[in-house]
Amino acid sequence: MSKSSENLSGWKKFMKSMTKAHELGTEEDILLDHDYDGIRELDNVLPPWWLYGFYITIAISVFYIFQVFYNSEEYSQEKEYKAEVAQGKAEVDAYKAANPQLFDDSNIVVLTDAESIAKGKELFTSKTCFACHLADLGGSIGPNLTDNKWILGGDVKSIFNTLTNGGRPGKGMIAWESTITREERIQLASYIISMQGSTPANPKAPEGDITWPEE
Ligand code: HEC
Repeated sequence: MSKSSENLSGWKKFMKSMTKAHELGTEEDILLDHDYDGIRELDNVLPPWWLYGFYITIAISVFYIFQVFYNSEEYSQEKEYKAEVAQGKAEVDAYKAANPQLFDDSNIVVLTDAESIAKGKELFTSKTCFACHLADLGGSIGPNLTDNKWILGGDVKSIFNTLTNGGRPGKGMIAWESTITREERIQLASYIISMQGSTPANPKAPEGDITWPEE
C-alpha cells in the first residue's frame, strides 16, 4: 500500500469517527417502531463533529459568564453600545461641520458652475417643471420664473424653500422634498436664477409682490 492511500484510509477513518454514520443497507437495525402515515424514523446518533462544536460553545460560555460577572466594568454590551453610538454621533457631527451646505438651509448658496446649471436645466425637464412653467420658464399654469416679480421669493434660499415645501396650498405647486434630492433642489434653484432676465417667447404677466433682484 502506498503512503498516500494509507493516508486516505486514515482520513476515511477520521471522517467515519466524526460522523458515526450508520452503515448503508442496515437501516432496519435503527428503525424506530412508530409510523406516522407511512413516515418512519431512524434512530441515528448525533454526529460527533456537531457534538464537539456544541461542547466547545459550552466551554466558552463558562469563560463568558465569568467575564460578565467579574469583569462587567470593562466588557458590557451596554457600555459597548454607548461607545459605538457616541462614536457614530461624533462622525456625523464632523461630517455636518465639514459640509454645512448639505445640512443647514441658512448656508445655501447659488451655484454658478456650468455643470450645476446644466444639471438644473436637465432636472427642469425630467422633473416635469416645464409642464407648468414652460421650457423657457415663461410660465403657463405656474408663474413666469424669468421676471423679477415673485410670489414666494426669488433668492436662492426662497426658491429652495418653495421647491422643498411647495407653493401656497391649492395653487398646484407641490412640495418636492420627497422626490427631488436636496442637492438637486439647489441645482434647480440655481438654474432658475441663471435664467433671470432672459426673454421667453410668451412671457406670462408678472405675479407676486416680492421684487428680486431689487431694481
Ligand atoms: C402642476 C404644475 C406645476 C409644476 C409641475 C411645477 N410648478 Fe412650480 N409653480 C406652480 C404654481 C401654480 C406656482 C405658484 C404657487 C403659488 O401661487 O403659491 C408655482 C411656483 C413656483 C415657484 C415660485 C415662483 C414665485 O413667484 O415665487 C418656483 C420657483 C417654481 N414653481 C419652480 C418649479 C420647479 C423647479 C418645478 C419642477 C420641480 C415646478 N415648479 C413644478 C405650478 C407648478
